Amino acid sequence: MQIHATNDRFSEIDADAIVLGTYQDSPLAGHVSELGPGTTDLLSQLVESKELTGSCGEIVPLLGPAGIAAPQVLIVGLGKRDKLDGKAAFRAAGAAARKLAAHPRQRVAMYLDPKWSDDTWQAALAGVCVGCQGQDLYRMEKKRHPFGELLVSGASTEILRVAQIQGVSVNLARELVNEPPAAIYPESFADRASQVANECDLEIEIWDESRLAQERCGALLAVARGSAQPPRLVILQYQGASNKKDAPLAFVGKGVTFDSGGLSLKPSDGMLAMKCDMAGAATVLAAVQAIAKLKLPVNVLGVMGLVENMVSGESYKLGDVLTTRNGKTIEVHNTDAEGRLVLADALQVAAERQPAKIIDLATLTGACVVALGNDVVGAMANDQPWCETVIEAAQTCGEPIWQLPMFPEFGEEIKSEVADIKNVGNGRWGGAITAAKLLEEFVNEIPWVHLDIAGPSFLDKAKPWSDGGGTGVMVRTLVEVARKYRA
Ligand code: BES
Ligand code: MN
Ligand code: ZN
Repeated sequence: MQIHATNDRFSEIDADAIVLGTYQDSPLAGHVSELGPGTTDLLSQLVESKELTGSCGEIVPLLGPAGIAAPQVLIVGLGKRDKLDGKAAFRAAGAAARKLAAHPRQRVAMYLDPKWSDDTWQAALAGVCVGCQGQDLYRMEKKRHPFGELLVSGASTEILRVAQIQGVSVNLARELVNEPPAAIYPESFADRASQVANECDLEIEIWDESRLAQERCGALLAVARGSAQPPRLVILQYQGASNKKDAPLAFVGKGVTFDSGGLSLKPSDGMLAMKCDMAGAATVLAAVQAIAKLKLPVNVLGVMGLVENMVSGESYKLGDVLTTRNGKTIEVHNTDAEGRLVLADALQVAAERQPAKIIDLATLTGACVVALGNDVVGAMANDQPWCETVIEAAQTCGEPIWQLPMFPEFGEEIKSEVADIKNVGNGRWGGAITAAKLLEEFVNEIPWVHLDIAGPSFLDKAKPWSDGGGTGVMVRTLVEVARKYRA
């Protein structure tokens, strides 16, 4: 989908459909007031009967309105003007796009609000890219059809360029999550990473099984052992800072391409969506892609730990003690708490390269979903200013995050009688935090934020602004962090 700017008035523009934004405060003001006198009565009636209120994401289609060249106008509610933030803009624009994308369209024009800030436009245009792309990779007849061309009124061409790059990357993360586990496994994920590295001129290292053994990644290897698919660790480097020696920002992702739970087997219901368990790694790959295409002046290190957690005679067992890359030992109490084991080694690989700051992303715990629901990312950190930087970036992008405490008492929960630590807490309470406490042991005290995306990375069913499946959550936030980052 090509995104272009337009200065045309919407009454004259040659498009298959036009989207007009309107606020709940006065739904007939703004662009809507420019609709011809022929529609005035109809519009007042719609307001009267509360079919047009301007609430966020509300959609009112007008077919063949008088005096408009385009055959169709879609009025989209933007909510209350003073509540309009990145989240509302993403949802409103996404809902309008998703509706129109139900049929193939050559050209769609959007007139939302010419007064919007660049940040708001970026969120809205990301919403459009998401709204147009479905999860039905393997359906003969697609439910969504990206527009041939999107014409946007009121945003600068520079914003459109940035939005296009970000939209492509968000959809890359979504696609990698949506691909079935038979298509995306550690090797094939690493191949996709190589493609991205080629296309964006990134340095890439791919560690295979024997290299991982040489590199003492004992925890990651133990998780991988039950699977017929060999593990990989991918290290991507983007050097955009004027000084190539500047300490990089490190992004580390959990890439469990399928999580059966291992010997602590999940029930079928809990296993169905577990192709999404590589969303952290997909987010890292997609964000580095966007940062490189945008040529942001920062060095970035991306580390992705890729394994499949399966059941076989080779599976790692409860009671096993694993020796991680930094020498700390972990006693396995539950093979379904595998993400933290993969990340223990992946974080250590990143930390040894002495990045200035670290962010990891992982579909780590059901407990985080219990705590915060499906729409909010959990943040846990060892450094408050760095955590606030990340939360602020997420706020700008309209991606909700909430911080959970990292009190030392939670660390007591993962002490083992046999090894240095065990891979679950004493009970299940506070499970998102006890998991983060394990990760903290592997970041060498570098400022670090852990983002638990177990809930928001995957939609079990569609929302008005997005089909179900992968969401690409946090891709834009990572890009925003890199954009604002000053060493
Ligand atoms: N991949 C899961 C977490 C998850 C749950 C992701 C729901 C997405 C949606 C993770 O590996 C896991 O199984 N965690 C266990 C940990 C427990 C055994 C301590 C969990 O949350 O139940
Ligand atoms: Mn698991
Ligand atoms: Zn998992």
